[in-house]
Amino acid sequence: MNVPTKVEVIEVGMRDGLQMESDFVDTGTKIALINGLMDAGVRHIEATSFVSPRAVPQLADAADVLAGAHRPSGSRFAVLAPNLKGVERAIEAGADEIVVFVSASESHNRKNLNRSIDRSLDDISNIAAQVRHADIKKKGAIACAFGCPFEGDIELSALMRIVGHFHAVGFRALTLGDTTGMATPALVERTVAAIRESYPDMRLTLHFHNTRGIGLVNVMAGLNAGIDSYESSIGGLGGCPFAPGASGNICTEDLVYMLNEMGIESGIDLDKLIAVANRMEAVLGRTLPGQVMKSGPRLRLHEYEDAACATG
Ligand code: COA
Ligand code: ZN
Repeated sequence: MNVPTKVEVIEVGMRDGLQMESDFVDTGTKIALINGLMDAGVRHIEATSFVSPRAVPQLADAADVLAGAHRPSGSRFAVLAPNLKGVERAIEAGADEIVVFVSASESHNRKNLNRSIDRSLDDISNIAAQVRHADIKKKGAIACAFGCPFEGDIELSALMRIVGHFHAVGFRALTLGDTTGMATPALVERTVAAIRESYPDMRLTLHFHNTRGIGLVNVMAGLNAGIDSYESSIGGLGGCPFAPGASGNICTEDLVYMLNEMGIESGIDLDKLIAVANRMEAVLGRTLPGQVMKSGPRLRLHEYEDAACATG
């Protein structure tokens, strides 16, 4: 296998994860969780979103979270922004990167952003013009890139039209979001190859949800295709409130565990990450889907004398 030796893991649990939680997590707790992630070596985080507080009340404290979090040098605090108003709020709050998004599916885009894809593409052009001289990075994100819960398969040509638009207005970083876990290794391979061929200078990030249990299998397909940037969520939290059946992202600890065992560097300390996942579980008061947080790494062994024995 010709996989990258180093991978960027972008933590999205504080945004994609918490946006699904109906009980408000107080700002101080959010900040403590982010600080824990930074202490574990995470350097690129989607920390919150500047969307309508009516659409996502959980993230209404976005500016306070950014103001309070410890931001070590070399870290990148990205935030989601759905429109110009969100971009302006993000710039004012001192975000390092805005993530501007649209869905590849017309019906999901209407549910999620209350507008057509074409109107979102116009918004994206305006945002690009607005931030051209601002001191902030910009990244595009395409939701439902591998399938839509309302429409099923997304035509590759429809996806490529959106990728082309982002490229035309100056975006050189793009996340392909698998909002409801409809990606498969074959789809990943085909989609990445098509984008690479038409837009070789577009840096791709893959964002999988583990809805059908093959999130990390899709990461393997991405690694085999040479992709070196992945989004994941602490404890496997996550999901879109505006996409039926959405479930957790791939889990950051499980991803980092797999990368470690493949000799791929992520710069993240697995034990510290597991401690943050445990803290998140305590905050939310329920068991999270992450697996390595429960089992530990493969060489965390058990006391022989303590284990049950079938005989005697
Ligand atoms: N931040 C804060 N408030 C915002 C905002 C933003 N980025 N964008 C709009 N608003 C406010 C407006 O000021 C207006 O407030 P008012 O009624 O008090 O005057 C209200 O929201 C409605 O604005 P409008 O432009 O008509 O928005 P809308 O109702 O058509 O909703 C979005 C469009 C994009 C704002 C909304 O659908 C949204 O925030 N979607 C994000 C969904 C999301 O986060 N999904 C998960 C990520 S995949
Ligand atoms: Zn997602």
